[in-house]
Amino acid sequence: MARYAQIVGWGMCVPDHILTNDDLSRIVDTSDEWIRTRTGIGERRIVTEETETTSSLAVKAARAALEVANLPPRELDTVIVATVTPDYPFPATACLVQDRLGASHASAFDLNAGCSGFVYGLSVGASLIASGQADTVLVIGAETLSRITNWNDRDTCVLFGDGAGAVVLAASQIPGGVRATVLGADGSGGDLLILPGGGSRHPTSRQTMDDGLHFIHMRGREVFRFATRIMAQATRQVAEQAGWALDEISLIIPHQANQRIIQSSASRLKLPPERVFSNLERYGNTSAASIPIALCEAVEQGRIHPDDRLILVGFGAGLTWAAAAVQWGVPLPAEPLPWWRRLWHWLSYRGARWRSLALRTLRRLAGLLSGPIHRNGWRTRLSAWRKRRRQAQKEPAARQAPPER
Ligand code: ACO
Repeated sequence: MARYAQIVGWGMCVPDHILTNDDLSRIVDTSDEWIRTRTGIGERRIVTEETETTSSLAVKAARAALEVANLPPRELDTVIVATVTPDYPFPATACLVQDRLGASHASAFDLNAGCSGFVYGLSVGASLIASGQADTVLVIGAETLSRITNWNDRDTCVLFGDGAGAVVLAASQIPGGVRATVLGADGSGGDLLILPGGGSRHPTSRQTMDDGLHFIHMRGREVFRFATRIMAQATRQVAEQAGWALDEISLIIPHQANQRIIQSSASRLKLPPERVFSNLERYGNTSAASIPIALCEAVEQGRIHPDDRLILVGFGAGLTWAAAAVQWGVPLPAEPLPWWRRLWHWLSYRGARWRSLALRTLRRLAGLLSGPIHRNGWRTRLSAWRKRRRQAQKEPAARQAPPER
Protein backbone atom coordinates (compact mmCIF):
# COMPACT_ATOMS: atom_id res chain seq x y z
CA MET A 1 0.00 0.00 0.00
CA ALA A 2 1.32 3.47 -0.92
CA ARG A 3 2.63 5.62 1.92
CA TYR A 4 2.44 9.39 1.72
CA ALA A 5 4.48 11.87 3.76
CA GLN A 6 2.01 14.48 5.01
CA ILE A 7 3.00 17.70 6.76
CA VAL A 8 1.03 17.38 10.01
CA GLY A 9 2.81 19.97 12.16
CA TRP A 10 4.63 23.27 11.66
CA GLY A 11 6.27 25.83 13.89
CA MET A 12 8.76 28.67 13.86
CA CYS A 13 10.91 30.73 16.18
CA VAL A 14 12.72 34.00 15.59
CA PRO A 15 14.80 35.94 18.12
CA ASP A 16 13.14 38.93 19.79
CA HIS A 17 15.78 41.47 18.82
CA ILE A 18 15.01 43.45 15.65
CA LEU A 19 17.83 45.00 13.65
CA THR A 20 16.50 47.61 11.23
CA ASN A 21 18.09 49.02 8.10
CA ASP A 22 18.56 52.31 9.95
CA ASP A 23 20.45 50.47 12.70
CA LEU A 24 22.74 49.03 10.02
CA SER A 25 23.29 52.42 8.43
CA ARG A 26 24.91 53.44 11.72
CA ILE A 27 27.37 50.53 11.47
CA VAL A 28 28.30 50.49 7.75
CA ASP A 29 28.02 52.91 4.81
CA THR A 30 24.49 51.97 3.68
CA SER A 31 20.94 53.29 3.82
CA ASP A 32 17.40 52.04 4.32
CA GLU A 33 16.63 53.18 0.77
CA TRP A 34 19.52 51.16 -0.80
CA ILE A 35 18.70 47.99 1.14
CA ARG A 36 14.95 48.17 0.42
CA THR A 37 15.28 48.86 -3.30
CA ARG A 38 18.10 46.35 -3.94
CA THR A 39 16.87 43.53 -1.68
CA GLY A 40 13.36 44.22 -0.34
CA ILE A 41 14.59 43.75 3.24
CA GLY A 42 13.38 46.17 5.93
CA GLU A 43 14.58 44.46 9.11
CA ARG A 44 15.88 41.16 10.42
CA ARG A 45 15.95 39.26 13.74
CA ILE A 46 19.27 38.73 15.44
CA VAL A 47 20.28 36.62 18.44
CA THR A 48 21.76 38.69 21.26
CA GLU A 49 22.08 36.32 24.21
CA GLU A 50 24.95 33.86 24.45
CA THR A 51 22.42 31.12 25.22
CA GLU A 52 20.58 31.74 21.94
CA THR A 53 22.05 29.35 19.41
CA THR A 54 20.95 27.47 16.33
CA SER A 55 19.86 24.53 18.50
CA SER A 56 17.91 26.71 20.95
CA LEU A 57 15.93 28.30 18.09
CA ALA A 58 15.48 24.87 16.49
CA VAL A 59 14.13 23.37 19.71
CA LYS A 60 11.52 26.13 20.07
CA ALA A 61 10.39 25.75 16.45
CA ALA A 62 10.29 21.96 16.84
CA ARG A 63 8.18 22.13 20.01
CA ALA A 64 5.67 24.37 18.22
CA ALA A 65 5.52 21.93 15.29
CA LEU A 66 5.09 18.91 17.59
CA GLU A 67 2.30 20.72 19.40
CA VAL A 68 0.40 21.34 16.15
CA ALA A 69 0.97 17.68 15.21
CA ASN A 70 -0.05 16.64 18.74
CA LEU A 71 2.87 14.23 18.70
CA PRO A 72 4.98 13.34 21.74
CA PRO A 73 8.72 13.65 20.91
CA ARG A 74 9.38 10.03 21.87
CA GLU A 75 7.30 8.99 18.86
CA LEU A 76 9.69 10.68 16.43
CA ASP A 77 11.77 8.33 14.29
CA THR A 78 14.22 10.85 12.80
CA VAL A 79 15.32 14.43 13.44
CA ILE A 80 16.95 16.30 10.55
CA VAL A 81 18.41 19.77 11.06
CA ALA A 82 19.31 21.68 7.92
CA THR A 83 21.82 24.38 8.80
CA VAL A 84 25.05 26.08 7.78
CA THR A 85 25.52 27.51 11.27
CA PRO A 86 25.52 24.47 13.57
CA ASP A 87 26.24 24.96 17.29
CA TYR A 88 29.46 22.97 16.72
CA PRO A 89 31.08 21.28 13.69
CA PHE A 90 30.26 18.15 15.70
CA PRO A 91 28.23 16.82 17.40
CA ALA A 92 25.38 17.46 14.99
CA THR A 93 22.93 20.15 16.05
CA ALA A 94 20.20 17.56 15.36
CA CYS A 95 21.58 15.46 18.23
CA LEU A 96 21.41 18.44 20.60
CA VAL A 97 17.82 19.01 19.50
CA GLN A 98 16.97 15.32 19.86
CA ASP A 99 18.28 15.38 23.43
CA ARG A 100 16.51 18.62 24.39
CA LEU A 101 13.21 17.36 22.99
CA GLY A 102 13.54 13.95 24.63
CA ALA A 103 13.09 12.25 21.24
CA SER A 104 14.70 9.17 22.72
CA HIS A 105 13.86 6.79 19.86
CA ALA A 106 14.91 9.11 17.04
CA SER A 107 18.01 9.04 14.85
CA ALA A 108 19.41 12.52 14.26
CA PHE A 109 21.69 14.17 11.72
CA ASP A 110 22.52 17.56 10.22
CA LEU A 111 22.21 18.37 6.58
CA ASN A 112 24.27 21.09 4.90
CA ALA A 113 22.95 22.18 1.53
CA GLY A 114 23.06 25.94 2.13
CA CYS A 115 19.74 27.70 1.84
CA SER A 116 18.31 24.68 -0.02
CA GLY A 117 18.88 22.56 3.10
CA PHE A 118 15.31 22.53 4.35
CA VAL A 119 13.88 21.30 1.05
CA TYR A 120 16.70 18.72 0.83
CA GLY A 121 15.65 17.62 4.35
CA LEU A 122 12.02 17.43 3.31
CA SER A 123 13.00 15.19 0.41
CA VAL A 124 15.08 12.88 2.63
CA GLY A 125 12.33 12.76 5.27
CA ALA A 126 9.64 11.98 2.70
CA SER A 127 11.83 9.21 1.23
CA LEU A 128 12.38 7.65 4.67
CA ILE A 129 8.62 7.60 5.13
CA ALA A 130 7.84 6.31 1.63
CA SER A 131 10.35 3.46 2.05
CA GLY A 132 8.88 2.47 5.41
CA GLN A 133 12.09 3.27 7.34
CA ALA A 134 10.31 5.95 9.37
CA ASP A 135 6.76 6.86 10.30
CA THR A 136 7.46 10.33 11.66
CA VAL A 137 10.27 12.72 10.74
CA LEU A 138 10.98 16.16 12.16
CA VAL A 139 12.61 18.42 9.56
CA ILE A 140 14.05 21.70 10.84
CA GLY A 141 15.77 24.59 9.10
CA ALA A 142 17.63 26.69 11.67
CA GLU A 143 20.31 29.36 11.46
CA THR A 144 22.20 31.97 13.44
CA LEU A 145 23.87 33.64 10.48
CA SER A 146 24.57 36.74 12.57
CA ARG A 147 27.35 34.70 14.24
CA ILE A 148 29.25 34.33 10.93
CA THR A 149 28.42 37.74 9.50
CA ASN A 150 31.13 40.36 9.06
CA TRP A 151 29.42 43.45 10.46
CA ASN A 152 31.94 45.65 8.63
CA ASP A 153 31.07 44.24 5.21
CA ARG A 154 28.11 46.11 3.76
CA ASP A 155 27.89 43.69 0.81
CA THR A 156 26.73 40.87 3.09
CA CYS A 157 25.72 42.16 6.53
CA VAL A 158 22.53 43.77 5.25
CA LEU A 159 21.21 40.49 3.86
CA PHE A 160 21.08 37.94 6.65
CA GLY A 161 19.02 37.19 9.75
CA ASP A 162 18.47 34.44 12.32
CA GLY A 163 15.55 32.07 12.89
CA ALA A 164 14.21 28.54 12.71
CA GLY A 165 11.24 26.74 11.19
CA ALA A 166 10.17 23.11 11.52
CA VAL A 167 7.69 20.65 10.10
CA VAL A 168 6.59 17.20 11.25
CA LEU A 169 6.17 14.69 8.45
CA ALA A 170 3.98 11.68 9.16
CA ALA A 171 3.17 8.55 7.18
CA SER A 172 -0.36 8.50 5.84
CA GLN A 173 -2.42 6.47 3.43
CA ILE A 174 -4.32 9.55 2.29
CA PRO A 175 -2.83 10.73 -1.03
CA GLY A 176 -1.07 14.07 -0.66
CA GLY A 177 1.81 15.61 1.23
CA VAL A 178 5.23 15.69 -0.44
CA ARG A 179 4.35 14.54 -3.98
CA ALA A 180 7.65 15.20 -5.77
CA THR A 181 11.08 16.70 -5.12
CA VAL A 182 13.90 17.94 -7.32
CA LEU A 183 17.41 18.27 -5.89
CA GLY A 184 20.45 19.68 -7.66
CA ALA A 185 24.02 20.85 -7.14
CA ASP A 186 26.81 22.55 -9.05
CA GLY A 187 29.97 22.50 -6.96
CA SER A 188 31.86 24.55 -9.56
CA GLY A 189 30.12 27.54 -7.98
CA GLY A 190 31.22 26.67 -4.45
CA ASP A 191 33.46 29.72 -4.20
CA LEU A 192 30.60 32.13 -4.90
CA LEU A 193 29.19 31.72 -1.41
CA ILE A 194 31.60 30.32 1.13
CA LEU A 195 32.77 30.30 4.73
CA PRO A 196 36.44 29.67 3.98
CA GLY A 197 37.86 29.24 7.51
CA GLY A 198 37.54 26.62 10.21
CA GLY A 199 37.56 23.53 7.95
CA SER A 200 40.38 21.22 6.89
CA ARG A 201 41.46 23.61 4.10
CA HIS A 202 41.99 26.56 6.45
CA PRO A 203 41.94 25.31 10.05
CA THR A 204 41.24 28.09 12.51
CA SER A 205 44.39 30.05 13.33
CA ARG A 206 45.34 33.59 14.17
CA GLN A 207 45.99 34.09 10.44
CA THR A 208 42.52 32.90 9.37
CA MET A 209 41.00 35.20 11.96
CA ASP A 210 43.09 38.16 10.79
CA ASP A 211 42.05 37.42 7.19
CA GLY A 212 38.37 37.22 8.19
CA LEU A 213 37.99 33.69 6.84
CA HIS A 214 35.49 32.88 9.59
CA PHE A 215 32.93 35.18 7.93
CA ILE A 216 30.57 34.70 4.97
CA HIS A 217 32.22 35.58 1.65
CA MET A 218 29.88 36.10 -1.28
CA ARG A 219 30.00 37.17 -4.91
CA GLY A 220 26.47 38.59 -4.89
CA ARG A 221 25.98 39.37 -8.58
CA GLU A 222 26.90 35.83 -9.72
CA VAL A 223 24.68 34.28 -7.05
CA PHE A 224 21.87 36.57 -8.17
CA ARG A 225 22.15 35.48 -11.81
CA PHE A 226 22.23 31.79 -10.83
CA ALA A 227 19.25 32.19 -8.48
CA THR A 228 16.91 33.85 -10.96
CA ARG A 229 17.54 31.10 -13.51
CA ILE A 230 17.42 28.10 -11.19
CA MET A 231 14.32 29.04 -9.15
CA ALA A 232 12.11 29.06 -12.23
CA GLN A 233 13.76 25.95 -13.68
CA ALA A 234 13.42 23.88 -10.48
CA THR A 235 9.80 25.00 -10.05
CA ARG A 236 8.94 23.88 -13.59
CA GLN A 237 10.69 20.52 -13.12
CA VAL A 238 9.03 19.66 -9.83
CA ALA A 239 5.57 20.71 -11.04
CA GLU A 240 6.05 18.47 -14.07
CA GLN A 241 7.12 15.54 -11.86
CA ALA A 242 4.02 16.02 -9.70
CA GLY A 243 1.88 16.19 -12.85
CA TRP A 244 0.74 19.75 -12.17
CA ALA A 245 0.35 22.54 -14.70
CA LEU A 246 1.88 25.84 -13.57
CA ASP A 247 -1.52 27.51 -13.37
CA GLU A 248 -2.68 24.79 -10.95
CA ILE A 249 -0.13 25.87 -8.36
CA SER A 250 -1.88 27.59 -5.46
CA LEU A 251 1.19 29.16 -3.85
CA ILE A 252 4.93 29.20 -4.35
CA ILE A 253 6.98 29.54 -1.17
CA PRO A 254 10.45 30.50 -2.36
CA HIS A 255 13.68 30.92 -0.42
CA GLN A 256 13.66 34.48 0.89
CA ALA A 257 16.94 35.97 -0.32
CA ASN A 258 16.08 38.99 -2.41
CA GLN A 259 12.71 40.39 -3.54
CA ARG A 260 14.10 40.99 -7.02
CA ILE A 261 15.03 37.29 -7.29
CA ILE A 262 11.51 36.32 -6.16
CA GLN A 263 9.86 38.73 -8.62
CA SER A 264 12.08 37.72 -11.50
CA SER A 265 11.34 34.01 -10.90
CA ALA A 266 7.59 34.73 -10.76
CA SER A 267 7.69 36.66 -14.01
CA ARG A 268 9.73 33.89 -15.73
CA LEU A 269 7.00 31.47 -14.64
CA LYS A 270 4.32 33.97 -15.70
CA LEU A 271 2.74 33.73 -12.25
CA PRO A 272 1.00 36.71 -10.63
CA PRO A 273 2.82 38.09 -7.55
CA GLU A 274 -0.02 37.12 -5.22
CA ARG A 275 0.74 33.46 -5.88
CA VAL A 276 4.30 33.86 -4.58
CA PHE A 277 4.73 34.23 -0.83
CA SER A 278 7.18 36.72 0.62
CA ASN A 279 8.04 37.74 4.18
CA LEU A 280 11.59 38.80 3.39
CA GLU A 281 10.85 42.38 4.41
CA ARG A 282 10.70 41.37 8.10
CA TYR A 283 13.33 38.64 8.39
CA GLY A 284 15.94 39.03 5.63
CA ASN A 285 17.65 35.89 4.40
CA THR A 286 17.59 33.23 7.12
CA SER A 287 19.14 30.59 4.83
CA ALA A 288 17.79 27.08 5.57
CA ALA A 289 15.18 28.55 7.94
CA SER A 290 13.60 30.88 5.42
CA ILE A 291 11.23 28.43 3.67
CA PRO A 292 9.78 26.79 6.82
CA ILE A 293 9.34 30.21 8.45
CA ALA A 294 7.55 31.44 5.33
CA LEU A 295 5.41 28.28 5.30
CA CYS A 296 4.34 28.89 8.91
CA GLU A 297 3.45 32.50 8.18
CA ALA A 298 1.54 31.53 5.04
CA VAL A 299 -0.55 29.13 7.16
CA GLU A 300 -1.03 31.78 9.84
CA GLN A 301 -2.18 34.35 7.26
CA GLY A 302 -4.76 31.95 5.80
CA ARG A 303 -2.88 31.69 2.49
CA ILE A 304 -2.95 27.87 2.55
CA HIS A 305 -6.05 25.67 2.38
CA PRO A 306 -6.60 21.91 2.40
CA ASP A 307 -5.75 20.33 -0.96
CA ASP A 308 -3.75 23.38 -2.09
CA ARG A 309 -0.82 22.67 -4.39
CA LEU A 310 2.32 24.30 -3.05
CA ILE A 311 5.82 24.55 -4.42
CA LEU A 312 8.68 25.11 -1.97
CA VAL A 313 11.80 26.15 -3.85
CA GLY A 314 15.25 27.26 -2.78
CA PHE A 315 18.84 27.81 -3.88
CA GLY A 316 21.99 28.34 -1.94
CA ALA A 317 25.63 27.74 -1.13
CA GLY A 318 27.14 24.75 -2.85
CA LEU A 319 25.78 25.80 -5.24
CA THR A 320 22.59 23.86 -4.60
CA TRP A 321 18.93 24.05 -5.50
CA ALA A 322 15.85 22.13 -4.41
CA ALA A 323 12.11 22.17 -4.98
CA ALA A 324 9.24 20.21 -3.45
CA ALA A 325 5.66 19.86 -4.65
CA VAL A 326 3.41 19.59 -1.61
CA GLN A 327 -0.30 18.93 -1.62
CA TRP A 328 -1.63 20.26 1.65
CA GLY A 329 -3.40 17.43 3.42
CA VAL A 330 -4.50 18.53 6.89
CA PRO A 331 -7.46 20.70 7.96
CA LEU A 332 -6.83 24.37 8.73
CA PRO A 333 -6.78 26.23 11.04
CA ALA A 334 -5.12 23.71 13.29
CA GLU A 335 -7.13 22.85 16.41
CA PRO A 336 -5.40 24.29 19.50
CA LEU A 337 -4.45 21.61 22.02
CA PRO A 338 -6.49 21.40 25.23
CA TRP A 339 -4.72 22.82 28.30
CA TRP A 340 -4.04 19.42 29.86
CA ARG A 341 -2.38 18.21 26.67
CA ARG A 342 -0.14 21.30 26.62
CA LEU A 343 0.68 20.72 30.27
CA TRP A 344 1.59 17.14 29.42
CA HIS A 345 3.95 18.35 26.64
CA TRP A 346 5.52 20.86 29.03
CA LEU A 347 6.07 18.15 31.62
CA SER A 348 7.59 15.84 29.02
CA TYR A 349 10.13 18.56 28.05
CA ARG A 350 11.00 18.98 31.74
CA GLY A 351 11.36 15.19 31.87
CA ALA A 352 13.70 15.33 28.85
CA ARG A 353 16.00 17.67 30.77
CA TRP A 354 16.12 15.35 33.76
CA ARG A 355 16.65 12.36 31.50
CA SER A 356 19.56 14.11 29.79
CA LEU A 357 21.05 15.12 33.15
CA ALA A 358 20.70 11.58 34.49
CA LEU A 359 22.39 10.11 31.40
CA ARG A 360 25.26 12.59 31.66
CA THR A 361 25.74 11.85 35.35
CA LEU A 362 25.73 8.09 34.77
CA ARG A 363 28.25 8.51 31.95
CA ARG A 364 30.52 10.56 34.22
CA LEU A 365 30.26 7.98 36.98
CA ALA A 366 31.06 5.21 34.51
CA GLY A 367 34.06 7.25 33.36
CA LEU A 368 35.28 7.68 36.94
CA LEU A 369 35.13 3.97 37.47
CA SER A 370 36.87 3.53 34.08
CA GLY A 371 34.69 0.65 33.08
CA PRO A 372 31.12 -0.42 32.75
CA ILE A 373 29.12 -0.33 35.98
CA HIS A 374 28.75 -4.04 36.65
CA ARG A 375 30.45 -6.49 39.01
CA ASN A 376 33.36 -7.34 36.73
CA GLY A 377 34.03 -3.62 36.23
CA TRP A 378 34.29 -3.10 39.98
CA ARG A 379 36.54 -6.15 40.33
CA THR A 380 38.86 -5.05 37.52
CA ARG A 381 39.08 -1.62 39.06
CA LEU A 382 39.74 -3.02 42.54
CA SER A 383 42.45 -5.42 41.41
CA ALA A 384 44.15 -2.65 39.38
CA TRP A 385 44.16 -0.46 42.49
CA ARG A 386 45.64 -3.29 44.64
CA LYS A 387 48.34 -3.90 42.04
CA ARG A 388 49.27 -0.21 42.00
CA ARG A 389 49.44 -0.18 45.80
CA ARG A 390 51.72 -3.23 45.87
CA GLN A 391 54.02 -1.59 43.31
CA ALA A 392 54.08 1.66 45.29
CA GLN A 393 55.13 -0.29 48.43
CA LYS A 394 57.97 -2.01 46.56
CA GLU A 395 59.25 1.13 44.77
CA PRO A 396 61.10 2.90 47.66
CA ALA A 397 63.13 -0.29 48.35
CA ALA A 398 63.93 -0.64 44.65
CA ARG A 399 65.13 2.97 44.52
CA GLN A 400 67.48 2.47 47.50
CA ALA A 401 69.16 -0.62 46.00
CA PRO A 402 72.43 0.10 44.13
CA PRO A 403 72.17 -0.26 40.37
CA GLU A 404 73.38 -3.67 39.16
CA ARG A 405 76.38 -3.76 36.84
N1 ACO B 1 24.72 49.71 0.81
C1 ACO B 1 25.07 50.60 -0.13
N2 ACO B 1 25.74 50.27 -1.25
C2 ACO B 1 26.10 48.96 -1.39
C3 ACO B 1 25.77 47.99 -0.43
C4 ACO B 1 25.06 48.40 0.71
N3 ACO B 1 24.72 47.54 1.67
N4 ACO B 1 26.25 46.81 -0.85
C5 ACO B 1 26.84 47.01 -2.03
N5 ACO B 1 26.75 48.33 -2.35
C6 ACO B 1 27.26 48.99 -3.53
C7 ACO B 1 28.37 48.21 -4.18
O1 ACO B 1 29.61 48.54 -3.57
C8 ACO B 1 28.29 48.73 -5.60
O2 ACO B 1 28.95 49.97 -5.66
P1 ACO B 1 29.83 50.32 -6.96
O3 ACO B 1 28.87 50.28 -8.11
O4 ACO B 1 30.36 51.66 -6.62
O5 ACO B 1 30.87 49.24 -7.03
C9 ACO B 1 26.80 48.98 -5.80
O6 ACO B 1 26.23 49.03 -4.50
C10 ACO B 1 26.11 47.90 -6.59
O7 ACO B 1 26.55 46.65 -6.10
P2 ACO B 1 26.02 45.31 -6.71
O8 ACO B 1 26.75 44.16 -6.07
O9 ACO B 1 26.01 45.37 -8.21
O10 ACO B 1 24.52 45.34 -6.23
P3 ACO B 1 23.38 44.38 -6.67
O11 ACO B 1 22.28 45.12 -7.27
O12 ACO B 1 23.89 43.14 -7.36
O13 ACO B 1 22.85 43.87 -5.24
C11 ACO B 1 23.01 42.03 -3.75
C12 ACO B 1 23.73 43.20 -4.36
C13 ACO B 1 21.84 42.54 -2.97
C14 ACO B 1 23.97 41.30 -2.81
C15 ACO B 1 22.51 41.08 -4.86
O14 ACO B 1 23.58 40.80 -5.74
C16 ACO B 1 22.00 39.79 -4.35
O15 ACO B 1 20.98 39.74 -3.67
N6 ACO B 1 22.62 38.65 -4.70
C17 ACO B 1 22.16 37.36 -4.25
C18 ACO B 1 22.70 37.11 -2.89
C19 ACO B 1 22.05 35.94 -2.24
O16 ACO B 1 20.93 35.63 -2.50
N7 ACO B 1 22.80 35.32 -1.35
C20 ACO B 1 22.30 34.30 -0.53
C21 ACO B 1 22.38 32.97 -1.17
S1 ACO B 1 21.67 31.80 -0.18
C22 ACO B 1 22.76 31.08 0.97
O17 ACO B 1 23.13 29.93 0.82
C23 ACO B 1 23.19 31.81 2.23
